[in-house]
Amino acid sequence: MCGIIGVIQEKGEVAPFIHQALKRLEYRGYDSVGVTTIDMDRLYSKKDKGKIDDVHRKLNLDDLPGRIGIGHTRWATHGIPSLFNSHPHFDCNNEVAVVHNGVIDNFLALREELLSKGHKFDSETDTEVIPHLIEDCIADGMSLKEAVKYVTKRIEGTYAVVAMCINEPDKIVVTRDGNPLVIGRKGSTSYVSSDIPAFLPMTNNMMLLLDGEIATLTLDGIEFEKLSDGSQVNRKTIKISWTADQAQKGGFPHFMLKEIHEQPEAIANTLRLPQEAIDKAAELILNADKTYFLAMGTSGHAALAGRHMFASLSGILPSLELASEFQDTVYGAINDTDLVVAITQSGETTDTIVAAKYAKKLGSKILAITNVVGSSITRLADHTIITQAGPEIGVAATKTFMVQLASLAQIALAAGHRSSFIDSEIISRKRESLGRLPDIVSSVIATQEANARRIAGEYYMHPSMLFLGRGISMATAYEGALKLKEIAYNHAEGYSAGESKHGPIALVEDGYPVIFVAPNDNTRSRLIGNIMEMKARGASIISVIEEEDTELEFLSNELFSIPHGVEPEFSIMPYIVPLQLFSYYMATRKGYDPDKPRNLAKSVTVL
Ligand code: F6R
Repeated sequence: MCGIIGVIQEKGEVAPFIHQALKRLEYRGYDSVGVTTIDMDRLYSKKDKGKIDDVHRKLNLDDLPGRIGIGHTRWATHGIPSLFNSHPHFDCNNEVAVVHNGVIDNFLALREELLSKGHKFDSETDTEVIPHLIEDCIADGMSLKEAVKYVTKRIEGTYAVVAMCINEPDKIVVTRDGNPLVIGRKGSTSYVSSDIPAFLPMTNNMMLLLDGEIATLTLDGIEFEKLSDGSQVNRKTIKISWTADQAQKGGFPHFMLKEIHEQPEAIANTLRLPQEAIDKAAELILNADKTYFLAMGTSGHAALAGRHMFASLSGILPSLELASEFQDTVYGAINDTDLVVAITQSGETTDTIVAAKYAKKLGSKILAITNVVGSSITRLADHTIITQAGPEIGVAATKTFMVQLASLAQIALAAGHRSSFIDSEIISRKRESLGRLPDIVSSVIATQEANARRIAGEYYMHPSMLFLGRGISMATAYEGALKLKEIAYNHAEGYSAGESKHGPIALVEDGYPVIFVAPNDNTRSRLIGNIMEMKARGASIISVIEEEDTELEFLSNELFSIPHGVEPEFSIMPYIVPLQLFSYYMATRKGYDPDKPRNLAKSVTVL
């Protein structure tokens, strides 16, 4: 939800770097873009609605003077995408520039107050109150840092704010509460950004800015301070293992396709997580009275699959809760004997963070499963599993989903082993099967990609599809439908195959596509019954089956086939792959950009 960048460097113009950094942040929002620099005591700005490439073609975002600048790529919350609502926002005199990610809940009251003092507003955004508040502070003789501190006392909501002004043309001041900001430093250049890939080509050394802190970036270095008492903070540098190459398309037409292809490696890396970290997670679950899985979207589908893995491998059945509904569902009925497992690839999803904070307040322990070192969820958690997908740029989650599944599988196995729920021979067989998954997923990509493209070519004109599965494959069906909906804009519903006859079957008429996720597990014979029901109503059946399942081959119009040798608890990992590829090719066949689906952003930092 909005990408922010700020850079101060010793030599050369900063605008081209800011432009490129915004391109690397575009997955966070892409309805408008803007860059502001300072040179010779004045602000220079270019901004407009539209994707970065389109705005750059029109305005040339590289052509701004100055060694210090800020930029923003927007996902609209307050005010439609338009030139005036694009960030950066300014004060009345065009001396202060601000970019912001988040939502300021009390902006209307602040705006009224500022209007009554004679301030003029250009936009409908909540953000614009910030530069005007800073303007008044500076007029009263405050420094930029003091002004930003004052702003944090006046605004309510969540924010990451980056500000600069012409009175102090050698610094950028940043603060946050609830929205991410990371800081980087290479030589005398300082960077601040919503996410690491923005400055990854320059450095993989990063420092976290925590909620309730303010930092000042200059050529001399970075000073961190606590807002509560003004005390200095000595922040450590963290070296992250991500590389700049991982955040490039590497010859693929889209990040999404590249990330689908990276899944075997991502699983293999996640299977190498230290066993102590996995055991500690398993121990937390075994010691809890009740375990709640909290997540949203694709992470929620990983949680649903994880629930099956835990039930089958460790005899524990965690509750699954949509994080956004958690407070309104549990009504305080959790306590310090319970555990919340927050599953969030970005670690920043506000629904998940708010729910985890609520659980923590009631005394529950928090186990986090996330892909981002230092993200907000890691700071709430008692223990964190960092999945090893590397940076995921495509907005639709693929490889981060895969590694969430790989982590949950390992924790479920460790829990089953520690509690002796299943005997060690079975554990060894399951572990071996897990270890084969990188190769199996690799073979699915190699054998099914052309098939996915061909089937998408046949079906792209169909506006609506059902995705059905039973048991763990219900999660696969949900995720397959979500991917298609997100990037190809088809109406797609993931359903339990058993539930399909209680309503969704009414949609089915001659030629209506129904996709069945049909591994050779104990759901297979009942699923065949559901296939027959759909066929009897003229549905066109597309099945994801285990190879050489001749019965299902006979019943299906189109097939995706998956190699033998996958344990039922892990089937979702290879079986989702053809559906990811199918969605990708449906989107590209329809002329859509799968990396930037409309109205979506990579991390959703609003409630
Ligand atoms: C779907 C997708 C979203 C996210 C959801 C939660 O492709 O990416 O549904 O899964 O917004 O995001 P995280 O995992 O970052 O909490």
